Amino acid sequence: MSLTQDELKTLVGQAALQYVTPGTIVGVGTGSTVDKFIDALAASGLAVAGAVSSSVRSTERMKALGIRVLEAGEVTSLPVYIDGADEIDHAGHMVKGGGAALTREKIVADLAERFVCIADESKLVPVLGAFPLPVEVIPMAAAQIARRFAALGAQATLRAGVVTDNGCQILDVRGLQITDPKAFEADVNQWPGVVTVGVFARNRASVCLLGTAAGVKTLV
Ligand code: 5RP
Repeated sequence: MSLTQDELKTLVGQAALQYVTPGTIVGVGTGSTVDKFIDALAASGLAVAGAVSSSVRSTERMKALGIRVLEAGEVTSLPVYIDGADEIDHAGHMVKGGGAALTREKIVADLAERFVCIADESKLVPVLGAFPLPVEVIPMAAAQIARRFAALGAQATLRAGVVTDNGCQILDVRGLQITDPKAFEADVNQWPGVVTVGVFARNRASVCLLGTAAGVKTLV
C-alpha cells in the first residue's frame, strides 16, 4: 500500500523523536513536516526542557500543545535541531525557505550540534536548484539582487504578499543548478541587501530521515 505525502511526513516526524533526549532543549524548524514532529513530540510525553523555535508559526503550535518555548538568546548551544527541507542532496546540502522562515532557521541550526532533516522522498535530488531558491532580502535591494541573478542566467521573482518574521521580502529564484552549494552560499550571502540565501551548506544536515514507500531511510 503506498503512503501519501502527508503520511510520509507523519512517519519522519515521529522518527525524529529518537534524536531528542529528555531534559534537553530541542531546536525546532518550520513547515508541514515539522508540524508533524511537534505533534509527535507533544503526544510522546518526552519531557524536554523546552524548545527554541525558528518561526512564529512553530512557536504558536508548540505553545498551544504545552511545549515551553525559549528565545535563541537564552541558550548557548542545542544538542539537536529538527527541520524539513525543500530539497536535499546526498551530501546533506539543502534548499530551505519555502515557508519563508530561512533566516531564523539558519540561526537556530547554527546553535545546534546536529541537524536532523526530516523529509519525504520527493525532496531528495542529485543537484540543488530545481525548487525555486528562496532568498530573504532587504526590500530596497530586491531589484538589484534580482539583476545579479539574471546575470547568472536565473530569474528571481518577488514572493507576492509575503513579509518575513524579520520584516523583509523573499525572492524565489528559478533556473539555477547549484553544483557547489558551499561556494554559492558564501558568494550570495555577501551581496549587499541579502539577509539569508536559502542554501544550507555550511549548516548542512548531519542526518536525513527520508520518508519512503519502504519506510524511513536514514541518509548522510
Ligand atoms: C520553511 C522551510 C521548510 O522546512 C521547507 O519549506 C519544507 O516545508 P514542508 O515540510 O512544509 O515541505 O524551509 O522555511
